[in-house]
Amino acid sequence: MTDVKKIFVKTYGCQMNVYDSERMAEALGAKGYVTTDKVEDADMVLLNTCHIREKASEKLYSALGRLRALKNAKPDLKVGVAGCVAQAEGAEILRRSPVVDLVVGPQAYHRLPEMLDAGGRQVDTDFPVEDKFTLLPERKSLRGPTAFLTVQEGCDKFCAFCVVPYTRGAEVSRPVSRLLVEARGLVAQGVREITLLGQNVNAYHGEGADGAWALSRLLRELAKVDGLARLRYTTSHPNDMDDDLIAAHGDLPALMPYLHLPVQSGSDQILKAMNRKHTADSYLRLIDRIRAVRPDVLLSSDFIVGFPGETDADFQATLDLIRAVGFGQAFSFKYSARPGTPAAEKTAVPAPVADARLHELQALITGQQRAAQEAMVGREVTVLYEKPGRMAGQMVGKSDHLHAVHVSDPDGRIGQLKRVRVLASSSNSLAADPLFTIE
Ligand code: 5AD
Ligand code: SF4
Repeated sequence: MTDVKKIFVKTYGCQMNVYDSERMAEALGAKGYVTTDKVEDADMVLLNTCHIREKASEKLYSALGRLRALKNAKPDLKVGVAGCVAQAEGAEILRRSPVVDLVVGPQAYHRLPEMLDAGGRQVDTDFPVEDKFTLLPERKSLRGPTAFLTVQEGCDKFCAFCVVPYTRGAEVSRPVSRLLVEARGLVAQGVREITLLGQNVNAYHGEGADGAWALSRLLRELAKVDGLARLRYTTSHPNDMDDDLIAAHGDLPALMPYLHLPVQSGSDQILKAMNRKHTADSYLRLIDRIRAVRPDVLLSSDFIVGFPGETDADFQATLDLIRAVGFGQAFSFKYSARPGTPAAEKTAVPAPVADARLHELQALITGQQRAAQEAMVGREVTVLYEKPGRMAGQMVGKSDHLHAVHVSDPDGRIGQLKRVRVLASSSNSLAADPLFTIE
């Protein structure tokens, strides 16, 4: 029997990294590795890093520092660093941290097995031309009825604050045929909900049989896959919400009424300095068009406060935009200067001012999030059961609007779609009773 080795993977950052971590674990599975959630049992530790905001590299080096004792106790332990910090820092990581064996960028991780075979300390942060996805083994280690499917990577937008165009590289879309095969494979394994992933997912323009397909066309095709009940996609740029994608929100019952559409700021002056190429007003008009075809869509966004040059009036414009839209939820961040980005050259807003703005913005968003949840109380919603809850006889899943819902349902099974009645709303979830099974 071959020796079973254990790999511990720690994932930082976005859903793309969650997906990449799964794929890396699968690639190493072909080399006899199984995953473990106990770092002390591991024969290999893989840190999948994120570079989007501050202290990413500090976080990495302190995590590596904590691994030193384990490596001393287990000299054969392999330590790998993957993801966007690996891309940004490359060989510097090997120089700074003696515990690291492998550094692999987000476009090179299909080479992990051969790097391991070759032995020694290695770095691969190339952007290879071959499609890393085709070189990865078939997906098998599935955890539940929901799955991510990366359809697009990289970004050509160059927002002035953002490292993604540098760490993930230029926009690349995967071909339609491969995505359909992968999606059907997921469904055959019990997946009921697929979230299409991409840093700029709605810029998707993958090769189809008759030329490039837009995201809307891919969604329309996926909606026909038997057994696939739900589709989502993230993350989108406002300027890439084309007419047919908006129309798809009205046409496709499988396309869930939830859209993450980052706006970053409500001030035109700041949006211009951010190189966003849209205005607050164009964003609001876009929201109106989406709501016209899908009135109950729940909107989510990302905001940055304290971008260089942000005045109090600029910040008030952001609060005005938030009030005008009414978000179901949002992520907000204090601006963090990323080396190599254009905005990093500019003078930052003083930290206490940025902190106060972040606090105020988050309070407004929290209020809107509560209101959106409260509005569900008493209503019937559909939930896809993902796992048992902490209480006996309880199931947990997401509603169409992506609210976490706890349902008292002793007969519930993972993967079931249930109609439920919402009884109450707490800070981060809804409580419900089952009505009937949909499928
Ligand atoms: N500082 C703060 N927030 C940032 N984001 C991206 N870059 C930065 C930065 N330099 C935020 C944006 C983006 C989200 C993923 O992270 O809001 O939409
Ligand atoms: Fe970064 Fe998103 Fe802007 Fe691309 S569109 S540069 S990923 S913030």
